[in-house]
Amino acid sequence: MQTSSRNAPPPISPLHFRSPKPRDGAAIWQFVQSTGQLEPNTPYCYLLLASDFSDTCLIAEQSGRLIGAVLGYHPPSEPQTAFVWQVGVLPDQRGKGVALQMLKSWLQLPANQDCKWLTATVADDNPASQALFKRLASDAGCSCEITARFTRDMFPQAHPPEPLYRVGPLPRLSTPLI
Ligand SMILES: CC(C)(COP(=O)(O)OP(=O)(O)OC[C@H]1O[C@@H](n2cnc3c(N)ncnc32)[C@H](O)[C@@H]1OP(=O)(O)O)[C@@H](O)C(=O)NCCC(=O)NCCS
Repeated sequence: MQTSSRNAPPPISPLHFRSPKPRDGAAIWQFVQSTGQLEPNTPYCYLLLASDFSDTCLIAEQSGRLIGAVLGYHPPSEPQTAFVWQVGVLPDQRGKGVALQMLKSWLQLPANQDCKWLTATVADDNPASQALFKRLASDAGCSCEITARFTRDMFPQAHPPEPLYRVGPLPRLSTPLI
């Protein structure tokens, strides 16, 4: 008996992770707006990230579509810390483990491989992001310490507090996290 291909689920295209190139800056800016939740910064800011900070940024593509990004840097006074400034996944791709895979691949970038800590600030009203960093810590077998960082009164407009999540000490990444 022949199986009808009309009933078969559509094939899932593989995810492709890479560091951005300067010309990806505009697409990252557009992507940030499409997440509906990430705070959009200027296009110029994303051009800078995709060029000067490219080695600590990662984008996820599926069939050529930008579906996720981790934008980060090393704080100048903490070279062994990889700071996640923005992480996001398009709404229709959430809940499938994409962000977790992206963060693990991001930690394995040559620029981040020797980092002992991953930090990020996570708004008090963002359970998805809170769960993401706690799950990363659990998978890496280390702790996720939460301390005050940007308090409500430090923002010029109404904004929930953004405590600091500090994941580590990270294992040496000769053992792949994914
Ligand atoms: C936060 C975000 C990146 C997570 O992306 P994702 O691909 O859906 O996350 P994953 O599927 O990899 O899930 C990772 C963990 O978070 C949990 N999680 C995901 N969405 C969740 C939600 N809405 N509520 C609670 N937990 C959630 C998952 O259950 C998983 O934890 P678990 O394995 O312990 O159950 C995504 O929701 C997003 O883009 N949000 C908007 C942008 C944003 O707020 N970014 C963070 C601030 S910079």
